[in-house]
Amino acid sequence: MDKLKKQIRELKEKRKAVILAHNYQPPEIQDIADLCGDSLELSIKASETRAEVILFCGVHFMAETASILSPEKVVLLPKKDAGCPMADMITPEKLTATLDRLGPMPVVTYVNSPAAVKALSTVCCTSANAVEVVNRLDADEVLMAPDRNLAKYTARHTEKKIHFWEGYCPIHDRLSTDEVKRAKADHPDALFLAHPECRPEVLELADLVMSTSGMIRHAASAEEKSFIIGTENGILYPLRKAAPDKIFYPVSPAMICPDMKKITLEDVANSLENLSGEVKVPESVRVPALDAVRRMIGD
Ligand code: 13P
Ligand code: SF4
Repeated sequence: MDKLKKQIRELKEKRKAVILAHNYQPPEIQDIADLCGDSLELSIKASETRAEVILFCGVHFMAETASILSPEKVVLLPKKDAGCPMADMITPEKLTATLDRLGPMPVVTYVNSPAAVKALSTVCCTSANAVEVVNRLDADEVLMAPDRNLAKYTARHTEKKIHFWEGYCPIHDRLSTDEVKRAKADHPDALFLAHPECRPEVLELADLVMSTSGMIRHAASAEEKSFIIGTENGILYPLRKAAPDKIFYPVSPAMICPDMKKITLEDVANSLENLSGEVKVPESVRVPALDAVRRMIGD
């Protein structure tokens, strides 16, 4: 393992690469990354880095976003099939058909979506800024896609009428109120932090709703000593690193995203060595998608 980590460090230097990892990635991957974060932080970093190669330890839509923002760089996803089932629940054709039915209105698209859908969107959002992005728009009605749970959460925090897409994250959407109530009964003093990809009835039970990095920041600075975590369980590693004196309970052992666990250290080394797994968004899609991503990050 140490040999492999050393090899990755050397290859990273040789390739002038930066390694970005999502907060759900396995511990050994987070340990070799230059930056771990939520989708918004990773997008911003991808737009700012001076590296020649961005190696993304996450899922396909994240690498696509990096390619949209940094077309001059080589963007690598060490496992090509690391995808996101929610992103696969929308296509440009279906979005166009829905807009034809609803009439013209701004489309706010969660970054967990294909680049070609971003290209048809007014602005992108992440779990960290969805409410702010929607409230910033000069319109009374908005279509949010593809996450119906994020859209319903946003609808509770805006005056605007929100039309939502019937997409969802299979990992967050399956969390039930019974599981949450059981965890709360087992740990009555713990604060329940939930991700907005959870169902509305689960979010009703949350003390706070936030993005993955929002949870890490909050847990580190809060007075409370224990937390029930309502998101993918990979986040327990950075939480425990950021707040070693605190206790974190996963709300359910089933909160595991298989796509976020696909990349191994061997894959990272291979990808850097051979520049394999390149993700490149074609210019005809990238240029319109860039407008939507830029509007989100205020670039
Ligand atoms: P954030 O880290 O942006 O909260 O996103 C969660 C997620 O599901 C990414 O796939
Ligand atoms: Fe997609 Fe859900 Fe996995 Fe995030 S946790 S990558 S939204 S399936």
